[in-house]
Amino acid sequence: MNPAEFTSTYYIDRRGSHSRKWDGQHLKFNRTDLLPLWVADMDFMPPRCIQDAICTYVKAHPLGYTMTNPNYLEAVIDWYKRRHNCILSKDWLTSAPNVITGIMWCIAAFTKTNDAIAVLTPVYGAFDASASDAKRPIIAVPMNRNEDNRYSIDYSTFEAAIVKHDVKVFIHCNPHNPVGHVWTEDEMDQLFSICKRHGVLIISDEIHQDLVAGPLPFTSALTVSNGAYANNIITMSSLSKSFNMASLHHAEVIIPNEDLRRQYNTCKSLVYHTDSDVIAEIAITAAYTHPEAEMWLTDLLAVVKENYEYMCSQLLHALPELRISPMDGTYLAWIDFGAYVKAEDMHNIFENQCGIAPSFGEWFGGKSYATFVRLNLATSLENIKIATNSMIQHIHP
Ligand SMILES: Cc1ncc(COP(=O)(O)O)c(C=O)c1O
Repeated sequence: MNPAEFTSTYYIDRRGSHSRKWDGQHLKFNRTDLLPLWVADMDFMPPRCIQDAICTYVKAHPLGYTMTNPNYLEAVIDWYKRRHNCILSKDWLTSAPNVITGIMWCIAAFTKTNDAIAVLTPVYGAFDASASDAKRPIIAVPMNRNEDNRYSIDYSTFEAAIVKHDVKVFIHCNPHNPVGHVWTEDEMDQLFSICKRHGVLIISDEIHQDLVAGPLPFTSALTVSNGAYANNIITMSSLSKSFNMASLHHAEVIIPNEDLRRQYNTCKSLVYHTDSDVIAEIAITAAYTHPEAEMWLTDLLAVVKENYEYMCSQLLHALPELRISPMDGTYLAWIDFGAYVKAEDMHNIFENQCGIAPSFGEWFGGKSYATFVRLNLATSLENIKIATNSMIQHIHP
């Protein structure tokens, strides 16, 4: 399907469906009539094969207690092998109700109060919240923004921060929300070797792993240097971003090391007594085994790419000094309006003039990002045109 056909088949007006993004604007904004480009979910129905699999199951079975379905485990293992050249062992798979809960349980299992946790900023704000809610200081190591607006790491700054703060856990994000960078194997090798040298546990959030349309392929942390760091890594993922099913409560937590896995599962059993969510397992199995789901994903990425290219070309034509980062992964555009808008005017301009609900840059690491916005492009081109035109109309060179 081309992008126009995909949109006419799968786009859905979500207003009135209790969608956090559309109907929950009062949670973060002063108005409720904005075009929402904030929460990271999509305005598209998931592939029909997933819809059908869920409907078929609920029509044929009660939703009684279930055990983990081996077909689901096979589907996950097969997906990682086929899509990411990553060989998982069945034993490594455990779970959480979602990725952030999995990260919170790792923090509880592997750190004590006041143990430091490192992140590379700007980064998804829930990492910070998970650490600070558990009274663990977050050590923000700012990435460098290069001339081409790509982000990179100063490894000696990273290592110095790890040593200075005696960091115990590093939360890595690949592809990186919000800057859209897909980390290369070499970059991860350098980062992880620093972690290894200083006994730092790596949590790799790979939730955006399938949303890669740029030139760099996604590499799971588990496969870096032929698995050299796998004993020291916990990866998290789910189908929630790739197939727009974030309300399903299930994430894969992959822990190759047996001791770490035992510690995680012990911590999990203190607060959670369910092994499997049958609807999530049905959805995941359908998503990871039906060719139709993979085609849907390919078509979706083409829509997101078209939206990104449209927005970039129009915005840069009108506002050539904008700094837009390459979106190699995710469906989130990271744009710095600092050449045109003062930090203190950003909220007023976006909310009251442009009529857009963006994710504001400061949500990803504080005031240094106050002139940035993150815009969610997983919507119709029509919505992207409205947002783009409105920015051009209200932001002046
Ligand atoms: C990098 C990253 N991790 C985790 C999440 C949230 O995942 P979950 O709903 O599974 O907790 C998001 C959502 O935007 C995200 O971008």
